[in-house]
Amino acid sequence: MGAVQSRVWMAEPGALTALRVRCMDCGTEQVADRALTRCPVCGGLLDALVALDAPVRPEQFGVGLPPNARHSGVWRYRPLLPPIPDEAIVSRWEGNTPLYEDDRLADYAGLTGGSLRIKHEGHNPTASFKDRGMTVGVSHARAVGARIVACASTGNTSASLASYAAAAGLPALVLIPEGKISGGKLAQTLAYGARVVQVAGDFDQALSLLRQLTDAYDVYLVNSVNPFRLEGQKTIVFEMLEQLDWQVPDVIALPGGNLGNTAAFGKALGELLQVGLIDRLPKLAVIQAAGAAPFASYHAGGWQTFAAVVAETIATAIKIGNPASTPRARRSIEATAGLVIPVSDDEILDAKAAIDRTGIGCEPASAASLAGLRRLVASGDVAPDARAVAVLTGHVLKDPDAVIAYHLHDGPAGEPAAGANRPISVPAELPALERALADALHG
Ligand code: F0G
Repeated sequence: MGAVQSRVWMAEPGALTALRVRCMDCGTEQVADRALTRCPVCGGLLDALVALDAPVRPEQFGVGLPPNARHSGVWRYRPLLPPIPDEAIVSRWEGNTPLYEDDRLADYAGLTGGSLRIKHEGHNPTASFKDRGMTVGVSHARAVGARIVACASTGNTSASLASYAAAAGLPALVLIPEGKISGGKLAQTLAYGARVVQVAGDFDQALSLLRQLTDAYDVYLVNSVNPFRLEGQKTIVFEMLEQLDWQVPDVIALPGGNLGNTAAFGKALGELLQVGLIDRLPKLAVIQAAGAAPFASYHAGGWQTFAAVVAETIATAIKIGNPASTPRARRSIEATAGLVIPVSDDEILDAKAAIDRTGIGCEPASAASLAGLRRLVASGDVAPDARAVAVLTGHVLKDPDAVIAYHLHDGPAGEPAAGANRPISVPAELPALERALADALHG
């Protein structure tokens, strides 16, 4: 272990003094010339500091970027990001994701007099929102001279880290809960060349194990306890608002797992307000799977006591029982007078089928945002004439097994799922195909 036991990061002393982080609890500030994931004084979560003294205008975005970042929908917002040096930036043209509009999905949510936009983060290079955080995290790792980068993951962070580490020429160590991540994500992580360690346990155990390792060794941790990861994820909100001409929607719905995005979205919105790009805050609506909803329970109990759970849900991406960013996410919900609710696996799968049927498609965890909006409109917490944005966090092909199971297999009661689309089998004869044509024409 000689090489990794060295406690010395390789950044030039003093070269990174502009990169600073602050503890959200005790306010202690320090220079981020190494991987930092908790406050050395009180153990609190950290925020990366961004200089926001002057107003920012939209014309400043995408200007003066180095060639390696010119096409990035993350580095486009550099005036609102920490000052990572040009030469450290590792980018894969991430961001630049579509903001769809589809009336069928607005109807599904019950937004009859309102509108629904769909921010599809599955259109990133490794097909999830994680690439936005990863370009900043891995660039910071390069800036501080890290020799190895690591994460624990339910699959998307690992796929993204493996890709960006390969781009940076850095080795990557990935911990995954054995047998509990989707095939598409495991395939990506292996293909991009990360060292994959399958842990006999769940995600929460894998992350806690990895943190023991990164506390003891010079291993750069890119899980969302790393404040630089979240800086990249802020740009989902920046890009969404720019696509909306800086007209603030009433509500932004997103799935909640480890709660990094919830933390990042709140920080992003506060910063846009501070620099004068928006004049009010939308409500954040965080949707958790019912079997993995400790944050929803914490919120429902008036933030009195937080209790971790042993997570269980079909949406493996958000199968997390002890979210690492809970205090930061609470801050986001309080600042936006936000909402946090659970939805059942059946609601997630039916919302996913509705999204898939429009040709947009997403992985199960992503559909929690639409399932949640539907529930919030039905309960009166979101008005039917609200202007809403639902964030889809990952691509439909991330979890093909979930799609096949939904459409091809009967449920526990022996019934096909509500939106099941069964293939038919025919002999290789024209009359059989003609009958299939007639069926297809008449729905
Ligand atoms: N949606 C997808 C597709 C995800 O992969 C994740 C998290 C989330 C939502 C939840 O986001 O953690 O910011 O609240 N996936 C992590 C991973 C945990 O390891 O890929 P969050």
